[in-house]
Amino acid sequence: MRLLVPRMAVVRLQPRTVSPALRRWNSTASSKTQQREPESFFTPAPGDDKPFMVTTPIFYVNASPHIGHLHSMVLTDTFARFSALRHPDRPVLFSTGTDEHGMKIQQAAAKGGMSEKEFCDEVSQRFRNLADKAETGYTDFVRTSEERHYAAVDAFWARLMASGSVYKGTHEGWYSVSDECFYSEQQIEKADDGKMIATETGNEVVWSEEENWKFRLGDYKDQLREWLQRDEAVHPWPMHANIARQVDGMGELSISRPASRVKWGVPVPGDPSQTIYVWVDALINYLTVAGFPGEMPAWPADMHVVGKDIIRFHALHWPALLSAAKLPLPKRVLAHAHWTMGNAKMSKSRGNVVDPIAAMDHYGPDAVRWYLMRSGGSLEGDSDYSAGELSKAHAKLGAQLGNLVQRILAPKLLAGVGESFERDADMDATLSVLPEAIERRFEGYELTAAVGALEAALADANRFFSDNEPWAKTNTTREMAYAYATLRNVGILSRPIIPGKSEELLDRLGVPADERGWKDAQWNGELDVVEMKRRLEEAGKKFKGTTLFPRIDDKT
Ligand code: ME8
Ligand code: MG
Repeated sequence: MRLLVPRMAVVRLQPRTVSPALRRWNSTASSKTQQREPESFFTPAPGDDKPFMVTTPIFYVNASPHIGHLHSMVLTDTFARFSALRHPDRPVLFSTGTDEHGMKIQQAAAKGGMSEKEFCDEVSQRFRNLADKAETGYTDFVRTSEERHYAAVDAFWARLMASGSVYKGTHEGWYSVSDECFYSEQQIEKADDGKMIATETGNEVVWSEEENWKFRLGDYKDQLREWLQRDEAVHPWPMHANIARQVDGMGELSISRPASRVKWGVPVPGDPSQTIYVWVDALINYLTVAGFPGEMPAWPADMHVVGKDIIRFHALHWPALLSAAKLPLPKRVLAHAHWTMGNAKMSKSRGNVVDPIAAMDHYGPDAVRWYLMRSGGSLEGDSDYSAGELSKAHAKLGAQLGNLVQRILAPKLLAGVGESFERDADMDATLSVLPEAIERRFEGYELTAAVGALEAALADANRFFSDNEPWAKTNTTREMAYAYATLRNVGILSRPIIPGKSEELLDRLGVPADERGWKDAQWNGELDVVEMKRRLEEAGKKFKGTTLFPRIDDKT
């Protein structure tokens, strides 16, 4: 294994000096998911100036986006923003977009009485609005209906043809329009209503026999095994093991469908009687955004973030196709679990969905982002969506962050700030381990734990403040200093998760724009309290009469 993190940078928390809340968090978070020490996919190797490339899946436009899609976007955005914050000199390519071809879209457009083009334009725009509303910092939004994507698909197809692993033949099997894939006899079963369904997804399948272009997936077993072994290409580990078990069984992949059935898609170059299979078409989006068939300075992708439902396409088909095309394979496929509703997977076809736009209209994008990462930020277990929990997450942000910043802006407390302060060993311990703790959680993709650590630090600061009752003192310097330092450092470290509110918090603290970097969240006990007082006095006037997290009436 190539170690990209210098070991020196990993600071172990020292249990004796760390506050109880932070210690509790630290002991529960580490062991479960980490059979292996995670490697850093964020820290570039010395001399490596490749941009950091992260992607979300491109979403089908058959129906409106739901909370699950937002989750993938926010998770990816958080990693992109973490990279930018931690490694400010390294450019980031962060792509998202829409998957617009295939039978499923063709049928949805027909049902809506619209042309495919019109239908896709409209729904694609909803996904873009979602990404914008959630304040994701994507650098590219790709649509498979774009000209540049057609060019990439054509060029990729030519490489496949040259690989010697493609031939035309008849294909028979069970096709699911909802999943847009064929299943074998072993992967299907008869449902109670007599319909045939795919065991994995429960979606209906129909028998079909047709002429297809086919790809000898099984020719690439060695390349796949090698890739899977290298650097733990699929994460988390159980997913990796699951995929590794499927390599032996790899046979053929149908890579086109008769145009008579599926007309909405990219025609096979030189064979217009066939349309390129929508999954092959869709996977190539990652090359499109990288610049293929031109120069690709950001390729290979550092991380493809996907839901666990589509891991097979990304971790078996995609690397095999790339191997055949003689292109570098992605460094890592990161799979996250699902949001459920009443414990059933939230899905467009099932209709048990939560409208993410409405949720953000009500609570604002940051509270929704915080809730998603806090309750769904572990990769392995599904999370059941709860409006009540979202409301609580919002209220807690208000109580822990909003109230404390409000309190230290009070003129009476500011008047008691002197020129130096007495150090507190517990608060020093909390603040000095925090950046490393957060970094380790990001590096290990443990966002639930990262949020937990930030909340623990805030709990420590709030407790320190109340327990010492600065409002009853004439010298408030120490309480004000630790509250300010904690809010500032939490503000900086939470920038990847809540980009909007973290900036607003730092504005309310009067922290200048050039003091919001990773290095500014390091604590060595030094704080210019005279400058702090000046900043808070100024900000207090500017933000008078407003709060960071205004109370929201849940009955409306
Ligand atoms: O599969 N919980 O698109 P899709 C969490 N176009 N995430 C969820 C989710 C849930 N309940 N439901 C969906 C496709 N997602 C293809 C992808 S990529 C080259 C082509 C998220 O619209 C999750 O990321 O069905 C999942 O993998 C993706 O949306 C599937 O979106
Ligand atoms: Mg789906």
